[in-house]
Amino acid sequence: MSADIFTAPLQKPAHLGSDWLEPKQADYSSADHAIWDELFARQMAVLPGRAATAFIEGLDKLDLSRGGVPEFGRLSEELDRLTGWSVVPVPMLIPDHVFFWHLANRRFPAGNFIRTRETFDYIQEPDVFHDVFGHVPMLTDPTYADYMQEYGKAGWKAMKYNRLKALGALYWYTVEFGLIMEGDDVRAYGAGILSGPTEAKFAVEAESPNRIMLNVDRVMRTDYVIDDLQPTYFVIESFADLFKQTVERDFDRLYKNLPPAFTYANSAVIDVDYVVNRGTQEYLLRGGRGSGAKPV
Ligand SMILES: [Fe+2]
Repeated sequence: MSADIFTAPLQKPAHLGSDWLEPKQADYSSADHAIWDELFARQMAVLPGRAATAFIEGLDKLDLSRGGVPEFGRLSEELDRLTGWSVVPVPMLIPDHVFFWHLANRRFPAGNFIRTRETFDYIQEPDVFHDVFGHVPMLTDPTYADYMQEYGKAGWKAMKYNRLKALGALYWYTVEFGLIMEGDDVRAYGAGILSGPTEAKFAVEAESPNRIMLNVDRVMRTDYVIDDLQPTYFVIESFADLFKQTVERDFDRLYKNLPPAFTYANSAVIDVDYVVNRGTQEYLLRGGRGSGAKPV
């Protein structure tokens, strides 16, 4: 994803209210449903053994393998029964305060469009496949579902202290690119990893990236890349630990002490880190995506 889509001012389409919700889900053509099915099959060829158990079970609980872009009404009914969440359609990336408000009310905003053949491998804006396949299965896990709500609440506070960048890093390193320990193995639960073709292998198996146990304070001081594979992934012990670290942290105090800019580079290992694997950073040193370096 190019950086400017996250920083460009968002223009609300005239037909939407202040909640930014589309009145109804898009009508997808059979070609669109076929794109979903191909993306689904591509991911399922790499995710078993690399994705978190909670994710694989979530796919199953929501019957996401039934084929085609899921219908949000039915999906929300099933999700509501499990954890009280729903999935709501939005036209594009939405402003932070609206996004936080939906999360705090256990609504997950999902893109109301699907990528085209031309953008099959690389899309700028998160589409329905990224949002629903990548994020929604995790919302079937009760503890993770509570974490997402807490994150939404923390967002309002971050805005008050002008520390959205720091909270954005927490989202990035957990919800989008998080890893979890399962026995002696790491597995992916972040949607950015789970919805793309390359990063599952890289994040879980490659020698290049660092894997460091997550510490909320440390992560919120760490820079991140949005248009390439991560030089560092943060690993949680359990969703209960992630939830606990987030709700028990006094965000008022944290935000007051955080500098406005990030303290740590995204490839840094610092002396307080509990390191699972220290990466070679080979991919980054070869120049990353721009140089055509092979990730794994
Ligand atoms: Fe996402």
